[in-house]
Amino acid sequence: MQTPFPMLVGAIALIISALAWADQSAVNQRQQLFDQLDTKTELMEDALDREQWQRGAELAAELADTVTLLKTLFPETSRGVGRSRKSIWNEWPEFEGRLTRLADDFTAISNTAESGRSAGLDTALENATSSCRSCHMSYRSLW
Ligand code: HEC
Repeated sequence: MQTPFPMLVGAIALIISALAWADQSAVNQRQQLFDQLDTKTELMEDALDREQWQRGAELAAELADTVTLLKTLFPETSRGVGRSRKSIWNEWPEFEGRLTRLADDFTAISNTAESGRSAGLDTALENATSSCRSCHMSYRSLW
């Protein structure tokens, strides 16, 4: 009689490698998006400094989308992987709330820039950029 054992082992190995892949791909994706966040925030600030309101508004809207997407890239299987501290998963509502506020700040920047109003722009910019540093201090490991 043939045993189904080798097939079972094969199936389990497949599942494990799929999980490891999912986990690694989420980590890679979130690191790429954080890099984009960095580059695009600078581009957005340059555009706004030069009073290129339309360009600044577009970049800010894209940044809001990026931050929203980031919320989906912290699966349980990637707990503590990369430079993400484990406390992110222990304090998920707090962490997610910070991302939500950052996305809202970018949306506010986009709306304000689009209407060519500079009132409120500085505050929204200040909120957005200070949230990077503050979240890193709490939730990003140093190495
Ligand atoms: C809610 C928390 C939070 C906010 C807000 C946040 N970050 Fe991060 N950031 C992280 C975490 C966590 C990592 C580590 C990701 C990993 O390696 O798993 C990270 C990583 C990064 C990295 C390194 C990516 C890499 O390849 O290792 C850059 C650059 C970065 N963030 C830029 C920014 C900028 C710019 C802002 C603000 C516009 C920002 N972040 C806002 C939590 C945050």
